[in-house]
Amino acid sequence: MVSLSKFALSVSMLLAIIFVFQLKGGNSFSILKPVVHMYITNNLTNGEQLGVHCKDKDHDIGYRAIHFQEPYAFTFRPAFFISNTLYFCGFNFGSESHYFDVYVQDRDEKAVDKECHWQINKYGPCRVNVLVNPNSIECFPWPSD
Ligand SMILES: *[C@@H]1O[C@H](CO)[C@@H](O)[C@H](O)[C@H]1NC(C)=O
Repeated sequence: MVSLSKFALSVSMLLAIIFVFQLKGGNSFSILKPVVHMYITNNLTNGEQLGVHCKDKDHDIGYRAIHFQEPYAFTFRPAFFISNTLYFCGFNFGSESHYFDVYVQDRDEKAVDKECHWQINKYGPCRVNVLVNPNSIECFPWPSD
């Protein structure tokens, strides 16, 4: 009996600790989905700079101009209950500018593990699924606007 109630006490303390950490994480329950590390790399072969500016509805990652093979990196935690995390970026190089959704939770959650790697080409972004298979590349055209 004594050990059982000790066990119950430990469990409820553990739950309380987890609960507190979730609140500290900002939005509750956010601790439950692993963080995704996003890497967007300039793969423009003519050595052009690539301007990148990524956002979701609550976070503005900010604008940066990146050189060839340089990454623009950020991390985020996908939503837990409703799979509605959406990160989108503006890209500009030369006289072109494009928008692309780099993380649509429904589309990407299964293809992307803890890392999401995009290479930005003149014709559009390609996702390299390094954790699934280093040779697995999925390319998308720039959406027409
Ligand atoms: C990067 O650019 C090279 C040269 O254009 C191309 O062959 C390669 O497929 C690109 N990589 C990705 C992942 O898009």
